[in-house]
Amino acid sequence: MGIQYLPEKKVFLLHTKNTSYQFRAAEFGFLEHLYYGRRIQDCADYLPVRLRHGYEANPYEAEKDRTISLDVLEQEYPGFGVSDFKTPAVAVKNGDGSDCIDLRYVSHKIYEGKYTITDMPSLRENEGGWSTLEVLLRDFSSGIEVTLVYGVMEEYDIITRCARLCNTGEQEVFVHRAHSACVAFPTDKMDMISFYGSWGHERNMERMPVRHGKYTVDSTRGISSHYYNPSAVLCSHDATEHSGECYGIALVYSGNFAITAEVNDFKQTRIVAGINPDTLCWKLNPGESFQTPEAVMTYSSRGLTALSHNFHRIIKYHLIPKQFINRRCPVLINNWEATMIDFNEEQLIAIAEKAKALGVEMFVMDDGWFGRRTDEYRGLGDWQCNLMKIPSGIAGLSKRTHKLGMKFGIWIEPEMVNEDSRLYEEHPDWCICIPGRKPTRQRYQLVLDFTRDEVIDEIFNQLYAEFKDAEIDYVKWDMNRSMTERFSQQLPAERQGEVCHRYVLGVYKLMQRLTDAFPQIRLEGCCGGGGRFDMGMLYYAPQIWCSDDTDAIERIHIQYGTSFIYPPFTMGSHVSECPNQQTGRTVSIDTRAALAYFGTFGYELDPNELTDEEQEAVRKQIAYYCRHGMVSAFGDFYRLTNPEEEKEYAAFMSVAEDQKEAVLSYIQLVSGANKGIIYLKLEGLLDEAMYEIQELGITCSGAALMYAGLPMPVIKADNEARIYTLCAVQE
Ligand code: GLA
Repeated sequence: MGIQYLPEKKVFLLHTKNTSYQFRAAEFGFLEHLYYGRRIQDCADYLPVRLRHGYEANPYEAEKDRTISLDVLEQEYPGFGVSDFKTPAVAVKNGDGSDCIDLRYVSHKIYEGKYTITDMPSLRENEGGWSTLEVLLRDFSSGIEVTLVYGVMEEYDIITRCARLCNTGEQEVFVHRAHSACVAFPTDKMDMISFYGSWGHERNMERMPVRHGKYTVDSTRGISSHYYNPSAVLCSHDATEHSGECYGIALVYSGNFAITAEVNDFKQTRIVAGINPDTLCWKLNPGESFQTPEAVMTYSSRGLTALSHNFHRIIKYHLIPKQFINRRCPVLINNWEATMIDFNEEQLIAIAEKAKALGVEMFVMDDGWFGRRTDEYRGLGDWQCNLMKIPSGIAGLSKRTHKLGMKFGIWIEPEMVNEDSRLYEEHPDWCICIPGRKPTRQRYQLVLDFTRDEVIDEIFNQLYAEFKDAEIDYVKWDMNRSMTERFSQQLPAERQGEVCHRYVLGVYKLMQRLTDAFPQIRLEGCCGGGGRFDMGMLYYAPQIWCSDDTDAIERIHIQYGTSFIYPPFTMGSHVSECPNQQTGRTVSIDTRAALAYFGTFGYELDPNELTDEEQEAVRKQIAYYCRHGMVSAFGDFYRLTNPEEEKEYAAFMSVAEDQKEAVLSYIQLVSGANKGIIYLKLEGLLDEAMYEIQELGITCSGAALMYAGLPMPVIKADNEARIYTLCAVQE
């Protein structure tokens, strides 16, 4: 069991294979963080030093002992309004109007297996060796109780956290902040890595030293967003891909979040992560509870690659739906970039037929098949097939596609409504907007009020009616706007601060219902590209469209940043037409594939417009992915270069779990006269194994390839890629 309690010291020890996490019930019941890092056997209660700091505030019970102050005593879940003045984990407005919350230890329980969260996604227990610790804390004046929940997965070096708040008092309470986790580090010498972006430019890695004060990445858009990802890494200044201490935290949550790192003058760094307090005000009546989303934490003493592998493994085996574990998505073609909204059934069949002849395994019909959808300005909310465009209906088209020997997928955007739709005409109050104010539009659409069960029922019933007689293998679930004018017409004034979180719960509810009704359907998450690329979505959708920017060169950065937390097989990535629709850049079709192989792989173009040469390339690419995709997309991923720094070339590789196969992608970004040779040092191979590199016709040991390196070709072109396939040969 990964959890131990030392009663005489009141210390909790959480152990994974390589990490330890410790805290204790300290003086007066304050839950004090002791240690998180590389595994140690010792009890870390020798670490806190009680010293008088100038200007300290002391808890009442400390009487004349001025060494106890929450100014420096690092709590596991700090409240507000007492002597901890840093970013709190929890903040409330009590029934009497005060805003104090002072949590003290009451009791705990430890059990085997993983706790459950209802209504929200969280890591799945599956066959893992999980154990759980629940620690009950209480504010003895207001009666607010907080249960801190810890899940320990020893084998994968994963610790999960969440909190449950319960109002056991007699007055109503408003929760303004309820984070999922707070972790303290006894140093101010750390870097923070976070992932910023915008539409078409998601999850760029940014690394900078933490400074005195607070640094926050967050979202108030109703979605986790393109702008910041709900994840972060704190690492030592000297951490590299292969060495140094790194801590990662990622939220299993798809809505407004905030992650704040704060450094003070006592050489302490605190990180808190959870629902964004800026858009949260949750009314808790006596007897009611509030559950936070789950935070997933991991630690590596061996640098960033190992940290990413911990996240990748837990996502692979304990997050995505079980039926998709180690099952690759069929190679698909999506008609969006070929036709946009304007298409008819015969055009689609022409795309599907041609694609099938090239080896594509699934046809996906994107936006434009329903209701009044003749352009972007209408139709959302009416999920009935537009028979003018698709005379056979969805059932008919899906069957026609299956007859071609292909699987069939379809695009939906269930959270949205256009004012020009039957749904809006019948239920104008079903969207999120404030009566009396003009709603902000984005892409000319409004957000449906998913805090309301009848709205979710209506959308579910519409989709169910359309899907039930069809043969649907895949659904691309899109979401194309930020939430504004946050207001639900069914909630009273004092509950409007609940809208954003209730909305996310509503989205999860519909995803659960849809996947329960059609378990064979593989969902692909999408949000104007990668605006909701988070662990919450991955619980329902084993893959997420990584970005609407399909330019291979830009994808080097996007997929690089994404890979810190999320494994390649979750990244929807396709070969699209050139000049690229987003950047105007033209690169060879093989360079485009060299990125797309490290994701779900597919095509986003009109195959009828490909030259003979390109068609031949597509045939070969599909054959390659069918043979090696389980390595390139599902293997252990290694970032061989940092594209934010290395501008001459980019390289990354994936190695099969048994280390017998690997796929390496090398992209020469900039050509130059009389260039020197680049020796690429590979990773993740077995020292003694001999690997044949098919494309080069050479065989070398893993040791040679990793320590002496592999010479890369000098290519007389910019942005040209090479793929190398390594297979261990039997001695
Ligand atoms: C979003 C998606 C695209 C496409 C369009 C359709 O932008 O990211 O892939 O599905 O919507 O409207």
